[in-house]
Amino acid sequence: MAQLNIVGRDGAEKTVDGKAGWSVMENIRDAGFDELLALCGGCCSCATCHVHVDAQWLAALPPMSADEDDLLDSSSHRQPNSRLSCQIEYGDGLDGLRVRIAPED
Ligand code: FES
Repeated sequence: MAQLNIVGRDGAEKTVDGKAGWSVMENIRDAGFDELLALCGGCCSCATCHVHVDAQWLAALPPMSADEDDLLDSSSHRQPNSRLSCQIEYGDGLDGLRVRIAPED
């Protein structure tokens, strides 16, 4: 099974078996990281699922939509490796992906 590495806001890292077909956001929530609020439920309208992706994985991710780009601009914690985790579908091709939950805005 593909593994997903999640770093919480406190720096603690957890490795879980990622569920293919679920978004990275859903996998993070399922792993017990309630700090990832995901308030809009994955509709790309809240930005509370913001993560920083390890740079080596950026090219493997689906392209960013204009809506995701606009929403990330509303965060004061945006970095070049920022993504909204609800917009990334997890699958075997992302085995080993590592994301850090961004600070709260
Ligand atoms: S959960 Fe709202 S934008 Fe991702």
